[in-house]
Amino acid sequence: MIVTDSGLIKTPWLNEVEESVTKSGIDYVVFSSISPNPRDYEVMEGVDCYERNKCNIILAIGGGSVLDAAKGIGIVSSNHLHISAFEGVDKISRPMPPLICIPTTGGTAADVSQFAIINNYGERYKMAIISKSVVPDVALIDPEVLTSMDGFLTACTGIDALSHAFEAYVSNASSAVTDLYALEAIRLIHSNLLDSYHNPNDIQARGKIMLASLYAGLAFSNASLGCVHSLAHSLGGYLDLPHGECNAILLPHVVDFNFNSASDRYKNIAKIFDLSISGLSELQIKNSLIDHLKKFNQSLGIYSNLSNKHVKSDDILILSGKAIKDPCNATNPKPPTKRDLEVIYSEAM
Ligand SMILES: [Fe+2]
Repeated sequence: MIVTDSGLIKTPWLNEVEESVTKSGIDYVVFSSISPNPRDYEVMEGVDCYERNKCNIILAIGGGSVLDAAKGIGIVSSNHLHISAFEGVDKISRPMPPLICIPTTGGTAADVSQFAIINNYGERYKMAIISKSVVPDVALIDPEVLTSMDGFLTACTGIDALSHAFEAYVSNASSAVTDLYALEAIRLIHSNLLDSYHNPNDIQARGKIMLASLYAGLAFSNASLGCVHSLAHSLGGYLDLPHGECNAILLPHVVDFNFNSASDRYKNIAKIFDLSISGLSELQIKNSLIDHLKKFNQSLGIYSNLSNKHVKSDDILILSGKAIKDPCNATNPKPPTKRDLEVIYSEAM
């Protein structure tokens, strides 16, 4: 089964994959009914298609939504329960069928991660499924496919990768190995995302971003994430907003919340950003880093705050109630309370 979405059908990449599969004499079916922020019922429809067509391997080509939905289809086809039964950490007993992933955005890293994020559409929240069982068997990483992304998608997915690297680096489950990947991802994104945004066909810049996305994925899949993602999952599930844009808006505010609990680590990031921090107080360094992140967003055309993404103050209680249950909070350097999450949302309005 080839899993993709309606946007990818318009690019040359899906055709190339189909030709290659056909040339190998393999029968296949294409399943493409997947929305951004993939929904639980779409996963179940995919399973139905998989079983009706007697498939035995999944090839996913697309962004994070497609890859996560493909993981969901794989899990359910082997374990025969509704996708919501697998929410949480290590809830999958039987391995899924072989999964080959071809990522077409430079951000999600679902092609190497042990995460699958599926929208519980009825209850309007994103379920985090975390298990070694959802790490794909093969990831085919090729920057050429990034050239079909528009500027907004390039910016959002690039900041998603930057958020993965930030959160993995300051995670309380980080290690010397994940630090290497996280810091190199931050450096590569900081020095190449603007080029990639302004020159979509610059294959050198696209290659650096693809590599950074992979590095950030290897870092966060092992060190896990933090409050940027718990808050973004809640927002994306409740209001169906783009994941990367949510991260871009929230990251500076989460740095503000976390800074004192990981100040040496944030200083190392400030150095990678070439900020002149020598002689500055902790507060000045924090403000300089936050300011730089906001300017970086703006240079990529992201000017939003939550209120102009149609988030209302009345939503904040519901959003923080959902976000506090997200497993990503467990590795945030400062354990948040529900009230802390409310404050971060309010400051991002
Ligand atoms: Fe993410």
